[in-house]
Amino acid sequence: MRIGIETLAFYTPHYFLDLRTLAEKRGVDVKKYYDGIGQEKMAVAAPDEDVVTMAANAAHHALEGIDRQSIGAVMFATESGIDQSKAAAIYVHSLLGLPKNCMSFEIKQACCGSTAALQMSLGFVAQNPKKKVLILASDVARYDLDSPGEATQGAGAAAMVVSVEPRILDLSPEWGTYTEDVMDFWRPNYREEALVDGKYSIKVYLRALTEAWREYQQESGRDFDDHDYYCYHLPFNKMSRKAHLHLARLTHHDDIPDEELLSQIEEGLSYSRVTGNSYTASLYLGLMSLLETSRCDLTGKRIGLFSYGSGCMAAFFSGVVLPGYRKHLQTERHRRMLCEREELDFARYEDFYLHHLPTDGSDYETPKHETGLYRLAGIKDHKRIYEFSGAAVDRSSTETISGLQKNSVAAA
Ligand code: CAA
Repeated sequence: MRIGIETLAFYTPHYFLDLRTLAEKRGVDVKKYYDGIGQEKMAVAAPDEDVVTMAANAAHHALEGIDRQSIGAVMFATESGIDQSKAAAIYVHSLLGLPKNCMSFEIKQACCGSTAALQMSLGFVAQNPKKKVLILASDVARYDLDSPGEATQGAGAAAMVVSVEPRILDLSPEWGTYTEDVMDFWRPNYREEALVDGKYSIKVYLRALTEAWREYQQESGRDFDDHDYYCYHLPFNKMSRKAHLHLARLTHHDDIPDEELLSQIEEGLSYSRVTGNSYTASLYLGLMSLLETSRCDLTGKRIGLFSYGSGCMAAFFSGVVLPGYRKHLQTERHRRMLCEREELDFARYEDFYLHHLPTDGSDYETPKHETGLYRLAGIKDHKRIYEFSGAAVDRSSTETISGLQKNSVAAA
């Protein structure tokens, strides 16, 4: 039975900060950001966006052409969760009108949570071949202002449908996985910003790559040159270069000129260069970037994929691109979304960053910004109220925020 990715879509906020603006403000040479870490712009979520709205925006498009009644599970991976109890998956399930006979839950293991969901979905669809799984990966990467991590922020969501009718990527069953208890990056419940030991996190990332690769290689019998392209988790683009050269050295392929090696990764970096880190979504954003921006026909090409989640867990796996894959991509929509974004000046970036929702349950209407199809309308009685922007949807209830009547989906 063939199992793999049937559809793939992403969403990134309408607003971005050019790292040149950040460099000027922080007194840093812009080349450090553009070349040293390989990032040019970072997406900034608007005050009326969160992981639910971003995921719903991506999922809306991933579900185009899919019979919604066939969705048997919604698996939502995030490390920017909005509730300690209720899964973000349920809000999206409701916003998108998915069937009631569905499992909907949230998964956490830093940036690798989405890959854990993907692994789990393979077993789910093998056992329920008539059902499909909607995987959501959505995050806001947030570090302290004026910290080394600030330039590696970003935001975005990826959505994919996994089924026994893959149209984009046929996933191979061999996986290499790795877990080690380390404190390289974490976010305690009382903080909105991650804490990170940056240099150490890079070392652990590479160690996890070594170990996950070794197991994958043992399981699959494949060597480095059995893969045509590679996508790595992208906390910042230069990490992919470090990872790929590391893997080439590890497998004794470092006689290949750097230029040739880098041609195996560079098309996967175009999107994240202008969105920044999107944690759980980043690997899949990289995969979309490769598939959608490559000038070559990738049919039949094997792509090696490495997922890393701090803390840490990692996985190396691979898949083969299917004939006709281009017809099922959303290349033009993604290109437009990225091109039509709005640049923030530094003051607006700070305003967005410093915007906080009330934590005392008081009614609050979020200021309206450009958000795609779904937005966070506000808070009422400690409940997040979501709406379909413009035309309202009324699937579960009608709520009032600050005296304004909104047909909306109330998130309890
Ligand atoms: N021109 C060109 N290059 C320059 C330069 C200039 N003027 N100035 C500096 N550089 C280069 C440096 O040589 C360095 O390159 P190399 O790593 O290739 O040597 C690069 O720019 C970065 O410089 P620094 O190491 O001095 O930068 P920094 O101390 O400010 O921190 C960072 C960089 C550690 C990545 C920091 O941004 C950070 O902590 N980010 C968050 C943590 C992170 O992303 N970790 C990655 C692994 S963990 C993970 O993957 C999970 C996740 O998603 C977070």
